[in-house]
Amino acid sequence: MQTIHLKAPKGWINDPNGFIYYNGEYHLFYQHFPYAPRWGRMHWGHAVSSDLMNWKHLDVALFPTKTDDCDGCFSGSAIEKDGELHLLYTGVRYDAPDPENTNCCLNDKFTAAQLHISSKDGFSFDNFGGKATVIPPISDPDIGDRNHTRDPKVWRGGDGNYYLVVGSTVNKAGRLLFYRSADLLHWDYVNYAAADGYGWMWECPDYFKVDGRDVLVFSPMGIEYGNQAVCTLVDFDERSCSMRIGGDYQFLDYGLDLYAPQSTIDKSGRRIVVAWLRMPEPMDNNAIGMYSMPRVCEVKNDHIFFRPHPEIRAKFNKRIASPAGIYMVKASLSDGEAINIGGYVVKKENGRVVADRSGVIRNHNELRNSFETPALNGAADIEAYVDGNMIEVFLNGGEYVITNAVYDLSDYVSGNVELYTLSDAEE
Ligand code: FRU
Repeated sequence: MQTIHLKAPKGWINDPNGFIYYNGEYHLFYQHFPYAPRWGRMHWGHAVSSDLMNWKHLDVALFPTKTDDCDGCFSGSAIEKDGELHLLYTGVRYDAPDPENTNCCLNDKFTAAQLHISSKDGFSFDNFGGKATVIPPISDPDIGDRNHTRDPKVWRGGDGNYYLVVGSTVNKAGRLLFYRSADLLHWDYVNYAAADGYGWMWECPDYFKVDGRDVLVFSPMGIEYGNQAVCTLVDFDERSCSMRIGGDYQFLDYGLDLYAPQSTIDKSGRRIVVAWLRMPEPMDNNAIGMYSMPRVCEVKNDHIFFRPHPEIRAKFNKRIASPAGIYMVKASLSDGEAINIGGYVVKKENGRVVADRSGVIRNHNELRNSFETPALNGAADIEAYVDGNMIEVFLNGGEYVITNAVYDLSDYVSGNVELYTLSDAEE
């Protein structure tokens, strides 16, 4: 059992996949290379939880078996239909494997198709007999790219049809491709959406409605600070699958370590999001990669909020005098004030919150180690969740979040703070 955050049980994990509340449990799959703490031919690892806090890892759910996914089962999503769990994901076939490491390919060149597999119970997946290619590699370069088209996110439309969006690229500009289906197996291409200023390829798109607004969360490659997860308010018309994407975006998280978020609906109907924490080196178990805690996405005054999941937050109800295990730090900072969480410094400066992890990132001087929010209106109320290799700093109830990978945190917290840990039952 793992508490609060899903962490790699061994080897490597990256994107969250197939996140769904199904038959009374949360299923969370993950991009996984089980053999070493580095990226390689992708599998889907699988974990379940009844409360979004305690995660139990199960056997690998998807692994390469078909020509179209022989070099990896890339990211995708889940949906329930007629009581069964359906997964849509990207299968890849390398153009040329790297002779020195055939788990990878040369020059980032591969062929991508979209595949479907279903499961009667959410636990057993017939990798040999149950897979079907439902969207073959794209052959029209004016529509999308044969190589870089991936990460289907599926949902049920208001008209009863199913819809999916995949990320792609044309002429070095990222775009989304929208498809429609009546049965999850036969898909028709409907439309695309693009916008200037969002890099050359869009990974892991996720579209949903929250608080009456259309939200797009995606991970464009080649924007400010490289490949980053962003979110923006859009207008989507279901019938034509046209999406208007403006130029303004928020980062999903201002720590810039989170990537490839995926959302689902929790058992109470909240839109929740988890994301992959990019880590520069393995954790103590020699495995690498973990996920943020699920955050509730809301839109207020044209701003997208990501607040801690209330059921998890409520568990941090035991006041403690000094830090131990997994804990939460509460503070309120005015300009010029700072707190220090075991070597991770959070301060308020020039109306912004600034986090500095340079003391807790070993010798990774190649990384950016200071992060800041946009300007805030007034004080900064802080709730920071600390779990070994990850600190998640929520500001003003999720107005902004700064999350970072950290190593070797010390056992002290200084500044004007209150500390809480999990109620005894959860320890
Ligand atoms: C994002 C990503 C996805 C892809 C997967 C491969 O991190 O590159 O676009 O499906 O990871 O592991």
